[in-house]
Amino acid sequence: MKLIFTLLILSSYAVLADDDSSSSKKPGVVPVNNALYAEECSACHFAYQPGLMPARSWQEIMVNLADHFDENAELEAADQKILTDYLTKNAAEFSNYKRSVKIMRSLPKDKTPLRIIEIPYMVSKHDELTTDMVAKNPKVKSLSYCDKCHTKAITGSYSEDDIVVPGYGNWEEYERSSSFLGRIKHGAKELYKDVVGSDDEK
Ligand code: HEC
Ligand code: HEC
Repeated sequence: MKLIFTLLILSSYAVLADDDSSSSKKPGVVPVNNALYAEECSACHFAYQPGLMPARSWQEIMVNLADHFDENAELEAADQKILTDYLTKNAAEFSNYKRSVKIMRSLPKDKTPLRIIEIPYMVSKHDELTTDMVAKNPKVKSLSYCDKCHTKAITGSYSEDDIVVPGYGNWEEYERSSSFLGRIKHGAKELYKDVVGSDDEK
């Protein structure tokens, strides 16, 4: 029985491996649609989508811009208010996009993370990455630079199909080639996608 299951997984992997028709999937979070935000909050990192954190986190960030992760990101009062409103209204708890829903579901109500990467859902999604791939990788530096690996991050899509870790290549290829277990895992994921029709569900 185990053998049959393994063969099934492997054969589904073989069939799907050549299938690039990763048809249009619903993006992970609502894309940024505020020009002022896109302009003001993309000087040092890409403009994170509001749907990646709860309103309480954005509000905390916006009142401390003068002391923003060791940088001064202060804004004029009027702009600060406009952007705080934008982030609050579009925060994760007001979005029905899948990533936002998962983010809220994983986050204890009494926690106000100031980093997206500290949210439990995000931590668990990145637990396979090594220090060499991130902190010691001069092309990445820290997990905060989402768009270094998520090639479509700017569009609000964090799909597995579009992850390229600089120096390690396409993540799915990497996982597949790095070990036998990686191949089994990959096969199982593809099978899941095939049955459920999307990988956005996890
Ligand atoms: C002067 C540069 C600068 C500007 C402008 C700036 N930031 Fe940042 N931001 C940083 C730095 C530096 C970090 C920490 C990156 C790291 O740890 O590698 C950061 C981190 C963040 C994080 C946490 C990301 C994570 O999960 O690690 C959020 C959220 C954030 N910024 C939001 C904003 C918003 C909203 C604005 C616009 C109001 C903004 N930033 C403007 C420099 C800036
Ligand atoms: C060093 C490269 C790298 C950086 C930087 C990075 N990620 Fe990821 N991300 C990955 C990898 C690798 C996965 C795991 C895919 C898997 O499940 O095998 C992942 C998974 C995810 C997933 C789940 C995707 C899925 O299909 O299950 C989301 C959502 C995500 N990342 C968002 C972010 C956000 C938001 C940031 C920035 C705050 C970020 N990531 C920064 C590499 C990165």
